Amino acid sequence: MRKTLVVGNWKMHGSRPANAELLAGILAARPFTADVAVCVPFPYLFETAATLAASDIRWGAQDVSAHEQGAYTGEVSAAMLAECGCRYALVGHSERRAYHGESDQLVADKAKALLARGVTPIVCVGETLAERDAGQTEDVVKRQLAAVIHTLAHCAGEIVVAYEPVWAIGTGRTATPEQAQAVHAVLRAQLQAATGHGDRMRILYGGSVKPDNAATLFAMPDIDGGLIGGASLKAADFVAICRAAA
Ligand code: G3P
Repeated sequence: MRKTLVVGNWKMHGSRPANAELLAGILAARPFTADVAVCVPFPYLFETAATLAASDIRWGAQDVSAHEQGAYTGEVSAAMLAECGCRYALVGHSERRAYHGESDQLVADKAKALLARGVTPIVCVGETLAERDAGQTEDVVKRQLAAVIHTLAHCAGEIVVAYEPVWAIGTGRTATPEQAQAVHAVLRAQLQAATGHGDRMRILYGGSVKPDNAATLFAMPDIDGGLIGGASLKAADFVAICRAAA
């Protein structure tokens, strides 16, 4: 049985006062049956760690360098994230694939760098509306995940996968539970065939998850939780989503 995981992706939002209020609201609502984490902008990692360290709420980053260290101005290494106590880091979010031209292989290399430092990659995959309308959804997400599976073939540690249809991110247009389940089942089969333990790896859904749709999404057999954007910035909404876990 896979334990539900709910991860808040704050994206480029927050301030020290707003973060303190948001985290206090989440902490006050414990206990949760789900595992809960927040992925915050780099400047807030140490303060978030200090706030959450004594709790069971975990934290992480939203990106990482594929490089171990060196002359890579502006980049942040997996070792630095480990020093911040990160449990997770997102890799391959559609906004980074789109705005920064991140390739499937770069995403895989980032995941490998994280595993080498004991940080769990949350590997984001998802199709655009044009790709879905063209019937390419399965091909796209399997191609994105295949690069990660191939690169991590001999690495210790496990990944979390997040299926985030690009057309559902920030749009209020959530994939139906059936649409999401269909893709999650494909991803789980791919993981199982390639690794032999896809049945224990967690696959999250992301894309306009809200308090009123989280329970039906999380009830689907291959949806193991959510990656939450906008709703993670409001304590009441994020707490409601965390509590939607069965
Ligand atoms: O990483 C999660 C994010 O892309 C989903 O955003 O606002 O649709 O929940 P949102």
